[in-house]
Amino acid sequence: MSSIADNRVKVMHGVNLDMLGKRSEEHYGDLTLTDLELQIEKWARELGLEVIFFQTNHEGEYVEQIHRLSEGADGAILNPGAWTHYSYAIHDAAEIAGVPFVEVHLSDVQAREEWRARSIINDIAIATISGKGPEGYKEALGLLARELEER
Ligand code: DQA
Repeated sequence: MSSIADNRVKVMHGVNLDMLGKRSEEHYGDLTLTDLELQIEKWARELGLEVIFFQTNHEGEYVEQIHRLSEGADGAILNPGAWTHYSYAIHDAAEIAGVPFVEVHLSDVQAREEWRARSIINDIAIATISGKGPEGYKEALGLLARELEER
């Protein structure tokens, strides 16, 4: 296990991610959000990271949590759900968040409807991972562990 001093990663699930398990299995698999978080927690522990989870269906609440990111986290994983494709408010909040973040999508947003192909936050994320299912979060944690170790 590595020893990263600044090791707190906030995993921020946006709109409708609380409905995992009931959503299209083809795109999102059959894990519930709780299953997914347990898996993420296990991967984080292996990397010496501490994870903090957050989910909301309210855009303003998501924005406010991003404003406060640096108070309780050193890095973040953002999956804003459908907000990814149109929320300039989330882009502007993430721009001033002051912590590195990775954008993650369970499904392959490039291979679905045209409107999903556009991300409002990918220009300010350190990386964007999509279409890898839960494994995408594992990859994101690995990237953040490296990023935080270098600081
Ligand atoms: C998603 C992809 C989005 O297009 C969609 O609106 C979601 C989930 C994903 O994880 O694949 O709610 O962000």
